[in-house]
Amino acid sequence: MLSFASLFETTAVSIMLWFKAFHVISVICWFAAIFYLPRLFVYHAMSEDTATRERFKIMERKLYRGIMTPSAVLTIIFGAIVYSYNPQYYMASAWMNVKLFCVALLLVYHFLCWQHLKLFRDDLNVRSHTYFRIFNEIPVFLLIFIVILVVVKPF
Ligand code: HEM
Repeated sequence: MLSFASLFETTAVSIMLWFKAFHVISVICWFAAIFYLPRLFVYHAMSEDTATRERFKIMERKLYRGIMTPSAVLTIIFGAIVYSYNPQYYMASAWMNVKLFCVALLLVYHFLCWQHLKLFRDDLNVRSHTYFRIFNEIPVFLLIFIVILVVVKPF
């Protein structure tokens, strides 16, 4: 028969797994937007007529405000909740500290996207489509690295 303490622990762990699931769902939504927004920048930088440019501005703004930023916030909130279940363990884990450093880099990238979006919005962008194609590759490396860190926990 389960004691009260072990029943409490089993329930706490299963609630934590729900938070972890929503953490991963938010990560997927964040990355869908983080991959798509710079792709829009590529086509926006190539576009030559005003009507097309105005359409890109709306798409970029809605993607950034409606999906990318809310998903980033939810990723951090759910990640912090999961972290709070065992802070001593995570604080002592090198893989988690490196992961959090990569998340900080990802937030810098997120902020840079916002800067580019504002330049496009004000018709001040001077970067070429080639620049945005290269810029678009940066989060791919961060994603691969972070997922390996949390799943393999190599150190
Ligand atoms: C401040 C932001 C974040 C915090 C505090 C955080 C925290 C956590 C914690 C504590 C876990 C449980 C790890 C374990 O015990 O196995 C976890 C799991 C995970 N995190 Fe994050 N995370 C954050 C951002 C991210 C980002 C940006 C990504 C993706 C690029 C990510 C991807 C994952 C994945 C895939 C798992 C599931 C690992 C597994 O259980 O197999 N996290 N996160």
